[in-house]
Amino acid sequence: MDVKERIDRLSEELIELQRAYYVDGSSPKSDLEYDALFDELVRLETEHPEYMRPDSPTQRVGSDLTSDFPEVEHSIPVLSLDKAYSAEAVLDWMNRSEVKAEGKLSFAEEEKIDGISMVLYYEDGLLARAVTRGNGHIGNDVTANIRTIHSVPLRLPEPINLAVRGEVYLPKADFEKLKDRYPQIANPRNLAAGTVRRQKSSEAAEVPLDIFCYEGFWEEGAAPSDHIEILSRLKKLGFRINPHLALFASSEAEARKRLDEAGLEGEGHSFDQLGEYLEKVTARRASLPYEIDGMVTKVCEMSVREAFGYTEHHPRWAIAYKFESPQAETKVLDVTVQVGRTGRITPVAELKAVALGGSTVKRATLHNQEYINTLELAIGDTVSVVKRGDVIPAVEEVLEKNEDGNATYVIPPTCPSCGSLLEQRGAHLFCPNRSCPDQVLGRISFYTGRDQMDMESIGPKAVQLLVENKLVEDVPDLYTCNFDSLQGIKGVGEKTIEQFKSAVKESLNRPFHTVLASLGLPEVGSKGAEILVRGGFDSMDKLLEAAERNDIEAFTRIPQVGEQSALLIINALKDPIMLERIERLRAAGLQFVEVREENSEKQIFQDQVWCVTGSFENFNPRSLAMKEVEKRGGRSVSSVTGKTTHLLVGRGGGSKRTQAEKLGVTIVTEREFLSLIGQNDEEKSEKTDSQGELF
Ligand code: IVH
Repeated sequence: MDVKERIDRLSEELIELQRAYYVDGSSPKSDLEYDALFDELVRLETEHPEYMRPDSPTQRVGSDLTSDFPEVEHSIPVLSLDKAYSAEAVLDWMNRSEVKAEGKLSFAEEEKIDGISMVLYYEDGLLARAVTRGNGHIGNDVTANIRTIHSVPLRLPEPINLAVRGEVYLPKADFEKLKDRYPQIANPRNLAAGTVRRQKSSEAAEVPLDIFCYEGFWEEGAAPSDHIEILSRLKKLGFRINPHLALFASSEAEARKRLDEAGLEGEGHSFDQLGEYLEKVTARRASLPYEIDGMVTKVCEMSVREAFGYTEHHPRWAIAYKFESPQAETKVLDVTVQVGRTGRITPVAELKAVALGGSTVKRATLHNQEYINTLELAIGDTVSVVKRGDVIPAVEEVLEKNEDGNATYVIPPTCPSCGSLLEQRGAHLFCPNRSCPDQVLGRISFYTGRDQMDMESIGPKAVQLLVENKLVEDVPDLYTCNFDSLQGIKGVGEKTIEQFKSAVKESLNRPFHTVLASLGLPEVGSKGAEILVRGGFDSMDKLLEAAERNDIEAFTRIPQVGEQSALLIINALKDPIMLERIERLRAAGLQFVEVREENSEKQIFQDQVWCVTGSFENFNPRSLAMKEVEKRGGRSVSSVTGKTTHLLVGRGGGSKRTQAEKLGVTIVTEREFLSLIGQNDEEKSEKTDSQGELF
């Protein structure tokens, strides 16, 4: 076989394996076999780049070249959805639709995925462009980043032209794993949005985005006549379709039959079951592995869709039932610019006061210039404001443009606090002046904050008072300043001064990991600090020494710490200003060594490296089992490698087990594990027995 043929064959096989894994959730080959094929393809493609196929499965890892997301025109109208806020309103809409259509209709009920709207354009069967919604007519070409999503087919089994709409999202569990790395990002949707617009696709590849596809647009004459058929065809072409689909038709039997014939998972129902169904999906919302913000009801018959047509904003054949995610409409009166403790600039919309989720909202974050550009937001626009999982409201969408001729807002080039020229770093602008008054205030307030040193009486207002009275300029000044000199200042009583003093004194008892988290080092939030301490950095000196040696490995040895995070931490710890701050805090008597918590468990797993696969009766989620390992001195890892010593196997464990067997890793069943940690049934019953004796 010549090289070209071998490259072709490997590509085909790997494409199928990737599809099976990322779309169907199955693993026809072991990880080892997969890696061997992948490595061979990478080697051959490096030697013969001329034979690399445009849909090569190696091209999902992204590149380091930056991209500026050129604007492209959509060839389909990319509309939004009309909204209803109750199950009754949806039923009403269905009834009205049947009256309008003068006949019986069927409706598809889909989850409304809370992600980023994306259009995938295929030309002759190849992924040509992935484009954001933009303003519905023009969006940004983000193909390089979307290619990194393994469930997006790069080539279709047929050489057709097709546009596919889908929602790109980040599974909740992956957001949980990554949120320490992106502490300023509040929810999975925002991290997905940021990732889709990353300048380097190699960085986008580090965030495991996924997609559900829900609409397809074929060329004239080739289009299916029904939505169920659209989904069925999309599925056959290799797209990932959400299995949580329900079809509502005149009878349950008919609905089921149509889904079966289409080869789709999902539930068939009759109309009278709609209320019950919506209740059921609302109840299971929290346990879904991804976020949804409502349900979408769609007319299935394409001829009716055509007859109903569109408004400027939405199709008349679909409606979104929005869960009660607090949302309000208001006007942007102004945009102001905030300077954070790290110098990061955040534009903020000053709003006409509006009630939202039990409070009055007057301000909402606009994140950065890119976000403003995506929204195309100008002063005077009418916008929708939402409160998602986080408490800080955000501007979600521009609903109506202003009539004053204001163009999209642009952040001024200088710092509003100190006048320094701002610098662009990644997606954000920064004020480079570390003595900038707003940065100083932010830094000290962060240190005293509830999630850090928790100095309750020294909140942002108190910090402002201390800074304005020149008592503190940096964090360590809290430990040397003379609070008594505040006496006589209006509004500052004896009691306040005593409170300040005791807050400072108490903070000397905070454990080292809290001190570490309060320094405001990049990547080192409270969870990050705990990870470092547990990973061996149990004193400030160990951290400082590793940073001085530029010992990246000392950090990356800890499974949750990547190279990029290690570099950021090292650089921050070598910064002379940070070093001086740390030394002054040491002199003030803060805890610089972690005092180990009494751990009553015997360290029976010391020096062992455990991995887990499958599901368990007694450990749900299975991370609970790994907690037991860690408590007993073991380390937990997410994949089986040469360093793994034990694999805990539950029901349904697949490729990890094969890998472990090959590598001679000790395989431990749930029963054996329970026995090792002294929680097996016999012991449990013994405990109950002895308790029985006691009482
Ligand atoms: S259908 C013309 N189906 O919700 C077709 N949209 O608020 C309109 N979305 O822009 C879209 N899940 O980004 C449709 N199952 C689903 C969806 C869905 C999420 C998003 C989509 C849309 C937005 C409207």
